Amino acid sequence: MFLPPTDWLPQAPLERLDLDWLSAARVEVAILRLDLIDPLISGNKWFKLVEHLKAADRTGAEGIISLGGAHSNHLHALAAAGKRLGFPTVGLLRGHAQETPTVRDLQAFGMQLHWLGYAGYRARHEPGFWEPWQARYPTLHAVPEGGGGLPGALGCAALKVQVDAQLANLGWSDFHAWWLACGTGTTLAGLVLAEAGAHPVFGALAVPDDHGVAPQVEAILREAGMADAGYELIDASRGGFAKVDARLLEFIDRSEQASGLALEPLYTGKALLALKNRVEAGRVASGTRLVFVHTGGLQGRRGFNTHFKKIE
Ligand SMILES: Cc1ncc(COP(=O)(O)O)c(C=O)c1O
Repeated sequence: MFLPPTDWLPQAPLERLDLDWLSAARVEVAILRLDLIDPLISGNKWFKLVEHLKAADRTGAEGIISLGGAHSNHLHALAAAGKRLGFPTVGLLRGHAQETPTVRDLQAFGMQLHWLGYAGYRARHEPGFWEPWQARYPTLHAVPEGGGGLPGALGCAALKVQVDAQLANLGWSDFHAWWLACGTGTTLAGLVLAEAGAHPVFGALAVPDDHGVAPQVEAILREAGMADAGYELIDASRGGFAKVDARLLEFIDRSEQASGLALEPLYTGKALLALKNRVEAGRVASGTRLVFVHTGGLQGRRGFNTHFKKIE
């Protein structure tokens, strides 16, 4: 009911990324363009949603209720999926009512919004948080923040299949490791599960340490019966989630001009800059081949338009 019967899973192109600091270090990067898969349900969100939608179907739910901030890529994708596939969606939002480009889209897609305030939103991990919402919306299936948890991770295993199917197009028989941005760590956990140790996964943290990415990844791997291994988390938050600074913006600007690839400052921009820092510190061996996942999120960038005046 929630998903079209066949061929719903979009295919992301795998392309070479040519930048001077990569060629100077003789490091090759292929970028998996999840930003291109769908005009609305872009990035890792489709993949993180799919197992949640299947679970909703199995329990006979009619729609989905979930949480996020006023620029949330996850709520944006969920609301767009609800509109496209015809199921109702409810969003519980952090903070007090405000208008952002994302919020306007959520409303246009027909998502019912509730603003929880900051303290109300912080209570989302407490036992009993969902009870009143489940009482109010008994026919809706609850999806955790960011489409996380083991179902979210399992949906991301498809990324490995898509990369494996396209390596030969680049003339690659194999690659050394994955590199991607982490917010909850769900996408990274999905790749770690799919790889089962075959290729290490490097996660550039878009959030500071106290956001609990490490325990969340560990919990997903434990629930799946896997060892807590095969990945490394790297601090890339540059002082906090959604904090941007001149060096980051200049780096994004230059990378976009050199490669034509659109980045956003919260996740993909920070992840690529963290890779550059590591390459320039001599910590990535010459000859290394990496797959960098472009996790999308360009819709959220509209909230940062003032910073992007130069390049838009
Ligand atoms: C654009 C973008 N990239 C990366 C991530 C991080 O994904 P995850 O929460 O699975 O670590 C997010 C947040 O979900 C995101 O919106």
